[in-house]
Amino acid sequence: MQSSRGRLRVRELKLAFIGFGTVAQGCARHIVNNRQRLEQEHGFRCKVVAISDPAKGSLLNLNEGIDLEQALQHVNERKTLEDLNGKTGLCSTETIAASHADVLVEATWTNLENGEPGLSHIIAALEGGMDVATSNKGPIALAFKKLTNLAKSKGRQLRFESTVMSGTPLLNLREFCLSGSKIRALRGILNGTTNYILTEMGEGRSYSEALRRAQELGYAEADPSGDVEAHDPAAKITILANALMEADLDFKRVEKEGITRIEMKDVEKAIEDGRVLKLIASAHRNERGQVEASVKPTLLPETDTLAHVGGVMNALQISMDTQPDVTIIGPGAGGDSAGYGLLVDILTIHRMRLNAKLVE
Ligand SMILES: NC(=O)c1ccc[n+]([C@@H]2O[C@H](COP(=O)([O-])OP(=O)(O)OC[C@H]3O[C@@H](n4cnc5c(N)ncnc54)[C@H](OP(=O)(O)O)[C@@H]3O)[C@@H](O)[C@H]2O)c1
Repeated sequence: MQSSRGRLRVRELKLAFIGFGTVAQGCARHIVNNRQRLEQEHGFRCKVVAISDPAKGSLLNLNEGIDLEQALQHVNERKTLEDLNGKTGLCSTETIAASHADVLVEATWTNLENGEPGLSHIIAALEGGMDVATSNKGPIALAFKKLTNLAKSKGRQLRFESTVMSGTPLLNLREFCLSGSKIRALRGILNGTTNYILTEMGEGRSYSEALRRAQELGYAEADPSGDVEAHDPAAKITILANALMEADLDFKRVEKEGITRIEMKDVEKAIEDGRVLKLIASAHRNERGQVEASVKPTLLPETDTLAHVGGVMNALQISMDTQPDVTIIGPGAGGDSAGYGLLVDILTIHRMRLNAKLVE
């Protein structure tokens, strides 16, 4: 990694962005804003060879690469990327194949029915010899084993830090800082929208008032069912259990109950009893050693760390066999945070590629 004069040798990674919405743009901004630091401290430089997004346009430029700053500006000004220099008009799968990228940055929408289109994008990239960094929960929650086995068989990396708690480190934390431990159980608040609604209800607002405020602030979507019916935290605890506890959970079988049936009187009763109502996602090993997971509204004593995680914040408590519980609290959403999670994955891929070269 070091040149003979002690300076870090800079290596270039070719990136293809598939899906260029909030999260991908957040990642692109981090790359643009920290270019010098990434080169000096990590020996990392990138050439963006492709961007593909249905509304923003599809662009391929293998030689000079796409000017990322210009692409961000274009998208901000609601101009099509197809005005910029490069080949245009390819669909996402054609773009992946033609890009010959080192890394696919997959940030299309989460589909918890069948994982598409992200699932096909990730398979195409791994089959084509690319590493993958994705923020897309769908493919990872639905096809974890298939995708990790494929990545392994191709000698490629599949990284998905920002699928759970965005840029707050969980998967990398386990891989590097908690290595050597066996994770016994996980317990957390993995959905910011429902945590915001429950926090507001604790301050006297009705469910519908709190939901409306969450929608006005951009925390909840027009159709909030993915959050309030707990599909989103169920996908996240599935990902965590499979990735951190070596489980083989099927997302569709995770027991889940959302917050739609919670009334003011339930919250008031909890407060009266000195308790706090939270939507808790958890996973543990049963007596047969199998991992079970669920998401459900839970009454916590005020002494519980998770009882104090309010608003849109997320948290995860990790129980392991080597030391007392570790709890990590941080943002669970937002383009900057999830985009940062993608950047960390890209840097990890870069570092592992350098390490592999050193071993060769
Ligand atoms: N936002 C967050 O805070 C956050 C946090 C963690 C993880 N995530 C996950 O990260 C992913 C991206 O989230 P986001 O907030 O950036 O969503 P977003 O703003 O809706 O961006 C997704 C982009 O993908 C595009 N797309 C859809 N189908 C495509 C295809 N076949 N090929 C290429 N592009 C396609 C969409 O275009 P159209 O709009 O034209 O369909 C859209 O521009 C999602 O899976 C989300 O669950 C988001």
